[in-house]
Amino acid sequence: MPKISNKGINMPQSPIRKLVPYAEEANKKGKVVYYLNIGQPDIKTPTIALDAVKVHSLDILAYSRSEGSEDYRKKIANYYKRNNIEISHEDLIVTTGGSEALLFAFGSTMDENDEIIIPEPFYANYNGFSTVSGIRVVPVISKIEDNFALPPIEEFEKLITPKTKAILICNPGNPTGYLYSKEEIRKLASIVKKHDLFLIADEVYREFVYDGIEHYSILQEPGLENHAIVVDSVSKRYSMCGARIGYLVSKNKEVIQTALKFAQARLSPPTLAQIASEAALDTPQSYFDDVIEEYVKRRNVLISELEKIEGVKVAKPNGAFYCIAELPVKNADHFAKWLLESFDYENNTVMVAPAAGFYSTPGVGENQIRIAYVLNADSLRIAVKVIAEALKVYKD
Ligand SMILES: Cc1ncc(COP(=O)(O)O)c(C=O)c1O
Repeated sequence: MPKISNKGINMPQSPIRKLVPYAEEANKKGKVVYYLNIGQPDIKTPTIALDAVKVHSLDILAYSRSEGSEDYRKKIANYYKRNNIEISHEDLIVTTGGSEALLFAFGSTMDENDEIIIPEPFYANYNGFSTVSGIRVVPVISKIEDNFALPPIEEFEKLITPKTKAILICNPGNPTGYLYSKEEIRKLASIVKKHDLFLIADEVYREFVYDGIEHYSILQEPGLENHAIVVDSVSKRYSMCGARIGYLVSKNKEVIQTALKFAQARLSPPTLAQIASEAALDTPQSYFDDVIEEYVKRRNVLISELEKIEGVKVAKPNGAFYCIAELPVKNADHFAKWLLESFDYENNTVMVAPAAGFYSTPGVGENQIRIAYVLNADSLRIAVKVIAEALKVYKD
């Protein structure tokens, strides 16, 4: 039989999706499964976006320009202006989700065996995209005890080698919900300038910040024009995960010109989804106010209920809609499978993402899970009750 590539063999499974067959089995047995594993919000997509694809006047569903339609990019530039980020439509490329923006960012800045420093735990697919791109992830550990704050600068500097090309942050963070302060962005800016590195920021959760704290983008940091690359997406902002639209943004012309070659190779981002996403830019502020209020409510319920469970440690998220919880178990992977296969509380069970897959350091995070608070507060209360009851009887 012909042989599979080493790259294919080394490609990690998604910790977010790998337990799906167990959840399906639990469903077949008649259990109600509360899905806390995946960042698929239950929030309604703005009708303005859905209506735009219903009433479009296209005769041919054609390719668009590789960088995305000009009208749409001009409106995106306006969106950034409204968010105090001065960029032109020529500083961005529309991509097939933030996922493709990450691939283009990696492809445009790194060669095989180059290194990228990422504070971990991090969005698990960074591992997958690094494998695809042949680059090496060098993790710098942020700790639950510190609420996942940025590790000290010296920790980054210790890790920089001649192969280091970039630092990648997720702000606010998936899976930690951590929101970097302006001071932390400044620290990162000083490191990347000193060592002439790229600073890639995944800001797909930019709108989801709580407690009156403001998001500070790396694109707002003066002097970072040649270093800063932002990965963005409509998936979570407008609950449009299925649109598959994102953007790569940089004021560094070489980065954009290079990424455009990758974009040309895949021809075009999806045309209908650009129509929906362009319309979504007119979503009224009241939509976001309501959504944020809802997420704050969910976060507060989730954290306070988790904190009531003996032996559970949880970091309070200030953004996005995830949190990491440390459990009094040895192996959260086993616990998560067991929840689906062998446990129910009043016929309810829960699907969570074991957190080890969000780390690249072997052995770290094995007693942690990631919870996405994408269900309403009542469902979250039931789900946490299931976890609490399960921990009473679970044996490692
Ligand atoms: C941190 C982060 N970045 C990027 C993505 C990719 O999103 P998409 O490709 O749907 O835009 C996700 C999706 O969950 C994410 O959580």
